[in-house]
Amino acid sequence: MSTTDVHGTLKDCAVLLVDDEQTILLSLRDSLKDEGATVVTASSGDQALNVLKSRRFQVVISDVRMPGLSGLDLLTAVKETVSDTEVILMTAYANVEHAVAAMRLGSYDYVTKPFPNEKMVRVVENAWTTSKLRSEIRDLRQRTAQDADLGFVVGKSEPWRKVMDKVRTVATTDSTVLVIGQSGTGKELVSRALHLASNRRDGPFVRVHCASLPQTLMEAELFGHAKGAFTGAAQEVKGRFELAHRGTLLLDEVDEIPLEVQVKLLRVIQERVVERLGSGTPIPIDVRLIATSKGSLEELVAAGRFRQDLLYRLSVVQMRLPSLAERKDDIPLLIEHFLAKVTLRMKKGTLGFSRQALEVLLNYDYPGNVRELEHVVESACALAEPGTAVGPELLSEAVRERAHARPNMRVGFAAQPLSAAVDEFERSYLTHALREFKGSRSDLARVLGISRKSLWEKLKKYELDSGKED
Ligand SMILES: Nc1ncnc2c1ncn2[C@@H]1O[C@H](COP(=O)(O)OP(=O)(O)OP(=O)(O)O)[C@@H](O)[C@H]1O
Ligand SMILES: [Mg+2]
Repeated sequence: MSTTDVHGTLKDCAVLLVDDEQTILLSLRDSLKDEGATVVTASSGDQALNVLKSRRFQVVISDVRMPGLSGLDLLTAVKETVSDTEVILMTAYANVEHAVAAMRLGSYDYVTKPFPNEKMVRVVENAWTTSKLRSEIRDLRQRTAQDADLGFVVGKSEPWRKVMDKVRTVATTDSTVLVIGQSGTGKELVSRALHLASNRRDGPFVRVHCASLPQTLMEAELFGHAKGAFTGAAQEVKGRFELAHRGTLLLDEVDEIPLEVQVKLLRVIQERVVERLGSGTPIPIDVRLIATSKGSLEELVAAGRFRQDLLYRLSVVQMRLPSLAERKDDIPLLIEHFLAKVTLRMKKGTLGFSRQALEVLLNYDYPGNVRELEHVVESACALAEPGTAVGPELLSEAVRERAHARPNMRVGFAAQPLSAAVDEFERSYLTHALREFKGSRSDLARVLGISRKSLWEKLKKYELDSGKED
């Protein structure tokens, strides 16, 4: 056995050497070690695959013909999992078809046996350089994704931060993502963020709004059609899949796709090939898919309205977006964001909300989530006098009422006399009590620990008395 020369040209390079012929394993191993490589040997494809599960190698050298898993199978497995490992194949039975297949599958080189060991050492050196370059490029790409400007997405709360962390992690993979969230939670926005943080950001972002397309049009929209494919098809038209080539395709509200179209969609996703309606020509497509849904697709599967196999394909990665009620901490930031947007558009000077209006906005629960908050801010600003703070009276009745129904127990300091603050609290608390308490006024007075008369006086004072008696 030779000693390891730590100054060799292959220092820091880990090589996995696979052959069922012991003599080749041993002599090649020594030559590679002489150049400083770390070498692990395996005498079958299956054994190699096992080793690969627990260790990373920069270069794999494998014989093509072996009992069990062949060199080509091993190559396929390696290329599916680790992207910066180079694979060199060697064979005693040089065969053009095999060589072409190997290259197609991404092998670095195809060397015919017998060969002098020095030749293989040179090939490994070159492969290693390529592997290093590949991993550098990958790191660079990931860093760019992490730096991608996603400033248009607002939110600092814990649940939202988790969403954005996931966006940045999965963006650079080509995995299909299923985004689930109630209406107005930002599903489309997050899908755009995924595209912009991905390596496809310079490619197209194409959205198909599945809910707004009648079934008859949906297939033509998705897959395109040939000239004369149906009445009115005067010329051939590309489908959205083709338009999204090298980019991202968003299937918005995918739960609205009828079962018949789901079958075709599944085929396209599996085979990565589309056929325009009325044409038998397969067109290869390179598209990253994102799908959204308001509700759980599992329930639709159980109800027989969505194909299990399609759900499986679409939900390689699932992201659930929190409702705005789950990330209340983001409301002030979002208000600021929408105010800035509106200010630019409306040219009314700097717009802002009064303290009372903000209280109401913070206490409301937004069943329509971020979209509703955006509308509330917009419509209040539309009604506002230029240059004045927007007061609570400009917020819609629904917002004011529901916000009042949940008194804000967090008390802040507002430079006002204590008596006024106490009054404010008392009024808010009593409003709440009147709405929520189911018993009579006498019972309410007892619960509040005051006399009936005192309750009656307070309700009168705050103009809360509806005139209703027990
Ligand atoms: N985190 C956020 N930062 C800034 N704007 C947001 C954010 N989330 C949502 N919005 C805005 O709220 C509106 C609704 O978002 P979007 O359309 O992405 O939601 P959605 O989940 O697709 O809604 P729907 O279910 O109604 O289709 C958009 O105007 C979007 O720009
Ligand atoms: Mg949407």
